[in-house]
Amino acid sequence: MAKEINTIGVLTSGGDAPGMNAAIRAVVRTALSKGKTVKGIMRGYQGLLEEEIVDMDAHSVSDIIQRGGTILGTARCMDFVTPEGQMKGAEICRKHGIEGLVVIGGDGSFRGAQKLAHLGINTIGVPGTIDLDIACTDYTIGFDTAVNTAMDAIDKVRDTSTSHERCSIIEVMGRHAGYIALWCGIANGAEDILLPERYNHDEQKLINHIINSRKKGKKHHIIINAEGIGHSASMAKRIEAATGMETRATILGHMQRGGSPTCKDRMYASIMGAYAADLLCQGASNRVVAYKGGDYVDFEIDEALAMTKDIPEYQYEVSKRLSR
Ligand code: ADP
Ligand code: F6P
Repeated sequence: MAKEINTIGVLTSGGDAPGMNAAIRAVVRTALSKGKTVKGIMRGYQGLLEEEIVDMDAHSVSDIIQRGGTILGTARCMDFVTPEGQMKGAEICRKHGIEGLVVIGGDGSFRGAQKLAHLGINTIGVPGTIDLDIACTDYTIGFDTAVNTAMDAIDKVRDTSTSHERCSIIEVMGRHAGYIALWCGIANGAEDILLPERYNHDEQKLINHIINSRKKGKKHHIIINAEGIGHSASMAKRIEAATGMETRATILGHMQRGGSPTCKDRMYASIMGAYAADLLCQGASNRVVAYKGGDYVDFEIDEALAMTKDIPEYQYEVSKRLSR
């Protein structure tokens, strides 16, 4: 028989993402509406191990749906990757009466949730990362805000690149994933898009493209480079030397992780957070909420972590066709 849950915990873990606050709010208010007690765990698994646990009521999540970041804070916690850390975490949950836990984060955070589930704490993951790199879901909370922030910034760099007739290499986030680069590349009309999943480091091809575009009268050359490839500054120096076109590197960095979440992020975060709390109330554990094929669904964490995902080939082909 499914375990009845009376007290639910919620934490955010890994890189923060706009919309995490909306997800926390949805978890708290859904659980409260079902008569559950809710506890917030500060600073991800680090705060769990340090017992930074606070009581949450409806008012604790007032006025946060529109805010970037996460009111609970977040952290990367190496101690929790060890079996000792995980056992300590499960013990602390039990000590505070936390029978079910919603973990908002990425794949790494879900691995932690999986370990806690195996130690008897019911857990549900909610996908929160700007990288869109969680295989089981078509959407991750934070992506829409991040790409819109990056797109606005790239538009601005494009203006000055055109005025000065420069090449600009603009580096966007995405540790191992090129989704932000692909979307911005298409949305900003970039001349080249370098994705970790596709780039073969053929710099000569890039250089030839820049020289040919200049001959055709293009006033700028915008290259979107994904963080997973990196080295934008040294690439800029080599490109300038080889093409004679002044070249600048701009690394957008953490500005992409902040800011007020877009409507899309607030919406997905609210539904996914509520769905996670509903699952816990039904006695589910070791599952992750996802948006797949137009519907909100859930998968076993083990199954979700075994899935793989790649850049959609057609979108990548289109990006190349449109950048001539
Ligand atoms: P994300 O959740 O965004 O993928 P990380 O990969 O940094 O971010 O993971 C966030 C945290 O999840 C880590 O700092 C660690 O505390 C926990 N974690 C990651 N991998 C594991 C693992 N294999 N077992 C237990 N906990 C893990
Ligand atoms: O996972 C989200 C992300 O922003 C990645 O795109 C990036 O590589 C990483 O986090 C940066 O992490 P940190 O904030 O620890 O430098």
